[in-house]
Amino acid sequence: MKKWFTMMALALCALTLTACGGGAPAKSSGSSAPAPKTETPAKKDEAKTDGKRALVVYFSRADENYNVGYIEKGNTRILAEMIAEATGADTFEIKPAKPYPKEYTPATELAKKEKNENARPEIVGTMPDVSKYDVIFLGYPIWWGDLPMPCYTFFDKVKLEGKTVAPFCTHEGSGLSGTDRYIADTTKAKVTGALEMKGTTAQKNQGEAKKEVLAWLKKIGIDL
Ligand SMILES: Cc1cc2nc3c(=O)[nH]c(=O)nc-3n(C[C@H](O)[C@H](O)[C@H](O)COP(=O)(O)O)c2cc1C
Repeated sequence: MKKWFTMMALALCALTLTACGGGAPAKSSGSSAPAPKTETPAKKDEAKTDGKRALVVYFSRADENYNVGYIEKGNTRILAEMIAEATGADTFEIKPAKPYPKEYTPATELAKKEKNENARPEIVGTMPDVSKYDVIFLGYPIWWGDLPMPCYTFFDKVKLEGKTVAPFCTHEGSGLSGTDRYIADTTKAKVTGALEMKGTTAQKNQGEAKKEVLAWLKKIGIDL
């Protein structure tokens, strides 16, 4: 966190100087008659998560960001797509009703104000029915040592109590910053070991990023 603040301070100085610039196993029916031995093809929408159904929920911001310049796809979104591809999970993006500024510094200022006010910025779209899912991957960038406030709006709207939540985040030096605990405390979900990765790795070194994603899925017991 301290390192990121130092980097932020340096970046702000620089900006000022430059004038701102497989399907689920069949359940036993409980009847005594043996089940007919016909192969049921895996449904397309079933996740490859050891028979469990999975959903990737993520928040990610494109445009100008720290150390990567203007990007078309947010760093966390890159990881979200890798996880969805590897597991066959459905995806849901947490989208703020009012997009954050495209420029980095104004975005950090707004995010800081929202955090200080413990705001719940409005988010758009139909919220997912999480009762359908056994595993929820939750992705976000670290913003001021926390989750972006729209993630808390999501927690207010979608109850994750008792669900298995696997957090993954991108950052530029702060690491997880205790966000796995914040998620557990706020949602009362069962939180697995988290994946944390520098956003620059996700954005610029996708081979390495994918290796880390797959290793993490294995570590937390998602059978691919
Ligand atoms: C508003 C804002 C606040 C940030 N706060 C932090 C921070 O506290 N610690 C850190 O390491 N990086 C911080 N960063 C950097 C982001 O966490 C990092 O660039 C991340 O990969 C962005 O992911 P995204 O493209 O999916 O939004 C911040 C970036 C922004 C825009």
